[in-house]
Amino acid sequence: MTMKFQLKTLTPTQACADKSDALLILLPSQAKSDKASKASWPLAKVVQGAQANGDFEDKAGKVLTLYGAAGVASRVAVVMSAGKGSAKNVRDAVAAGMSALKGRSVKKLTVCLGSESQSQHLPIVMQAIADATYVYTATKGTGTKDKSGRVLTQVTVGVADLAKAKAAQIKSLFLHGQALVAGQDFAKEWANRPANFATPTMLGEAAKSLAKAHPVVACEVLGPKEVAKLGMGSFMSVARGSNEPLRFIVLKYMGGTKTAAPTVLIGKGVTFDTGGISLKGGAGMDEMKFDMCGAASVLGTFRALAELKPKLNVVGLIPATENMPSGHATKPGDVVTAMDGQTIEVLNTDAEGRLILNDALVYAKRFKPAAVVDIATLTGACGIALGAVRAGLFSTDDALASALHNAGERALDLCWRLPLDDEYAEGLKSNFADVANVSDRQGGAVTAAKFLERFTTTDGAPHFPWAHLDIAGVAWKGGREKGSTARPVGLLLEWLLAK
Ligand code: BES
Ligand code: MN
Ligand code: ZN
Repeated sequence: MTMKFQLKTLTPTQACADKSDALLILLPSQAKSDKASKASWPLAKVVQGAQANGDFEDKAGKVLTLYGAAGVASRVAVVMSAGKGSAKNVRDAVAAGMSALKGRSVKKLTVCLGSESQSQHLPIVMQAIADATYVYTATKGTGTKDKSGRVLTQVTVGVADLAKAKAAQIKSLFLHGQALVAGQDFAKEWANRPANFATPTMLGEAAKSLAKAHPVVACEVLGPKEVAKLGMGSFMSVARGSNEPLRFIVLKYMGGTKTAAPTVLIGKGVTFDTGGISLKGGAGMDEMKFDMCGAASVLGTFRALAELKPKLNVVGLIPATENMPSGHATKPGDVVTAMDGQTIEVLNTDAEGRLILNDALVYAKRFKPAAVVDIATLTGACGIALGAVRAGLFSTDDALASALHNAGERALDLCWRLPLDDEYAEGLKSNFADVANVSDRQGGAVTAAKFLERFTTTDGAPHFPWAHLDIAGVAWKGGREKGSTARPVGLLLEWLLAK
């Protein structure tokens, strides 16, 4: 079942009268812009009493859950503190509100934003609701109820007063939120699938059916023959060990003028990374099904673009392959030739992401792009450096770097810029090829980025403004909550829409 959002003008009193299974009410924040309304509403006394007695702190993440409250048409009402009212406060508040509803059967939800300034956070509110209610279904069987998917199907979002001057802006934020949720759900769907339900062929089919369902998106999928003809010897060297044929997926969303240079998004699509002949250890290897999270974020971003239809041109490139050991597999020391003629000594077959992205970076040149951003679960080292909070951002272009950084801050989908000094490329020197695919372990996230950079410049002159997002630490969660986070769909959409 899909989840539908509906935007309405609702005062807290009207929200209380709205009959849903559950009602979430965000209190006005402590911010000056949020003049707390003195107007009485059905829960005013209860909330004041709880606050006065210290049972309900005015801090983001604190909630008051009420059952069958007088004057409330819904079964359950959750009143949420908004703290200082920042985007992060609002996200934490809604996340806490949603977790108070966990385990209850909520099909229909009404959420009421307490003040006009809180409407600015609509996409974040909608995202928090979607995140809390997402249910993976693709490979669930008869042994669980999950097969039928998300229980929540109808969300009414109540805002202060739609008739006022800001109505158009609030409506567009609402549409942004809807597109974001659709894009993130789509990214999660594909990222979470096990590798035998998300082969390169299946990713290609997913892209094609996205294009079929949304005619504003065009899609072309190249196979081994076409890729060989293009001379993508680096990409092909990764796919050699696998019985699954590689795919090179090209997506186009041309909502802008014909002459406007497109933005190119490149997503690493390693549908399973065993390491190849440089085989990984067994512990936790299942998580290498997530090695196509970059690809999933590109698919998700296109799903969002299809929904929103902004006036932009965007090209998506996804090199998709498995990285497997076999009698056909590339061996450590083998030399391969990339599409631009550079030869590469493959010292470690587990450093395969850079060997598929480089050919995509060379391919991107033909679009004369305004900017190229690649998104990849590229290095464990980036996860070590930045953890699960921020993705690594590398760029040869200061303006592009700060635009991406700032979009991440606004969308609460954070990244942090790391350096690209030439000294980091020293260790990539090879006696047998133009470049080696690995250096020593130190600064591994940077050396990987330095390797990619070689395919975006000629003699130090950039082919296009380029940025690389290493999402190895942020794209999925392990442990009990194992699953895709859909990052950085939020950052990418925010960045594209600000263009
Ligand atoms: N897909 C991995 C990176 C990765 C590892 C992401 C663990 C998330 C968690 C990538 O292909 C890889 O194996 N990188 C190697 C590079 C090394 C051989 C230079 C790594 O990070 O160990
Ligand atoms: Mn690897
Ligand atoms: Zn990998």
